[in-house]
Amino acid sequence: MVRQFDILVIGSGAAGLTAALNLATDKKVAVIAKGPLSDGATGWAQGGIAAVLEEGDSFEAHVEDTMVAGAGLNDRHVVEHVVGAAPAAIERLIELGVPFAQEDGALHLTREGGHSHRRIVHVADATGWAVQQALERAAAANPNITLLPDMVAIDLITGRHEERFSTGGAVHGLYALNRATRKVETLTARATILATGGAGRVYLYSTAPRGATGDGIAMAWRAGCRVSNMEMMQFHPTCLYHLETKNFLITEAVRGEGGILKHPLTGHRFMPDYDERGELAPRDVVARAIDNEIKRDGLDYVHLDISHREPEFVRAHFPNIYEKLIGLGIDMTTGPIPVVPAQHYTCGGVVVDLAGRTDAPGLYAAGEVTESGLHGANRLASNSLLECLVYGQAAARDILERWEQLPPLAKVREWDESRVTDSDEEVVITQTWGEIRRFMWNYVGIVRTTKRLERAKRRIDMLRQEVTDYYAHFRVTPDLIELRNLVEVADLIIRSALARRESRGLHFTRDFPRTLAQAKDTVLVD
Ligand code: FAD
Ligand code: SIN
Repeated sequence: MVRQFDILVIGSGAAGLTAALNLATDKKVAVIAKGPLSDGATGWAQGGIAAVLEEGDSFEAHVEDTMVAGAGLNDRHVVEHVVGAAPAAIERLIELGVPFAQEDGALHLTREGGHSHRRIVHVADATGWAVQQALERAAAANPNITLLPDMVAIDLITGRHEERFSTGGAVHGLYALNRATRKVETLTARATILATGGAGRVYLYSTAPRGATGDGIAMAWRAGCRVSNMEMMQFHPTCLYHLETKNFLITEAVRGEGGILKHPLTGHRFMPDYDERGELAPRDVVARAIDNEIKRDGLDYVHLDISHREPEFVRAHFPNIYEKLIGLGIDMTTGPIPVVPAQHYTCGGVVVDLAGRTDAPGLYAAGEVTESGLHGANRLASNSLLECLVYGQAAARDILERWEQLPPLAKVREWDESRVTDSDEEVVITQTWGEIRRFMWNYVGIVRTTKRLERAKRRIDMLRQEVTDYYAHFRVTPDLIELRNLVEVADLIIRSALARRESRGLHFTRDFPRTLAQAKDTVLVD
């Protein structure tokens, strides 16, 4: 069965739902998600969204902060565009009912690392959940939007899937595994938008949700699109260290509101030893400092302490984190929180222009799956949700404006399962997944060397071969689909890291510690 829509959106986070809402004025849109609609990173966002909203702040300052954090690898034109569009994007969310925190009749603005001014709008410490719910409500109420959760996209449909084989690079839709029926469905459309989020789960420790396996990046890559700056993996400095609860973020706003990083044995406040901006230095600087303290002194974690602030203030600003920690026996109003760095954000991704267009006609992308030029070598805190909102809208606008020039609907081949059987050894998948995540953490982490990267490359080459072989013989399952993408993305990260012969932003290698005068993107083409 082939299902036909005007536009397909893969992903139901901030980027995907923003695009869908802007398209559904007169087009039929399907939004697919690989699990429940709220399961992406958007719902997990804590700190907030950056925008210039207060007298005394300026667009120039937000642009400059973004460029400084990005170590000059950002595209200034893109940064100016996104920063300039931020206030209107916040206004649209308010219209959709997002209850941003207020103080004295105005939006309350918090501060995060790398920002020279208070400019983060937030909903306490669970901003993403409020945004996700508002977008979902609006999408569910729109008769032109069909929401399709539990559909795992496998691959984009390109010329080679047309009934009459064509070599053109256009995208005509996608194949997706329906979790309920276990059948692969064929969905076609004039335009497809990738809004599949990041690839954090390629690392052993990550704050990202379980589904962040880089599916969109891998699918676009297989469809012939350029992918760029994949070595720029962001590690958040403060993920909770707890033996049972892994991957829980302690928002940067805790440091923005005065939280101090201390050595757990001596109580020494160490950040000023590394950077004059102290705890509010950009993430790459703080994460490397913590990594250094931990490795030098054989520690398991460092301390983040905000217990010097009034308990009422802490509980009011961080109610969700407070409750979560109390449940684990940690009271952040009276003592420190044990923290470690963990992978947090994928700065690299599918290359897009200002309208969200990729290299393949009919294929757009928005949000964390992309490399738009906004983040450069290191994303500034709270600029990601902003990017999702701005690019989700930009892609929708471009599709509507260029509707007549988009590739026509094609007659495509349906998924063929005749040559495959059920897997005889599911353990291969869990074993390979675990192996990748572990060596990526150890060899392609916060501090890199050429030797470690080459080790990682040898391993990924072997595993890639095994997974390709496995994929060719066995029926697809959600885990196999993700593993195939994870292998692809790990390879892209390692290749990009090996290609960059300098240290810049998030990419730090002992073999090339200097930053070259000229900032250049790492663009992979094949
Ligand atoms: P997501 O919200 O991740 O959504 C991805 C969607 O794609 C999901 O619906 C998923 O089901 C779907 N999908 C993926 N693969 C497939 C497939 N194969 N088939 C079908 N569907 C698929 N940023 C900020 O700006 N401010 C913050 O305060 C902030 N806090 C954060 C806190 C945490 C813990 C984390 C992890 C991130 C945070 N970020 C923050 C980053 C930000 O949340 C994300 O970058 C952003 O939400 C990404 O949105 P997105 O729409 O691109 O993707
Ligand atoms: C945080 O709240 O620390 C995360 C903010 C972000 O990732 O932008």
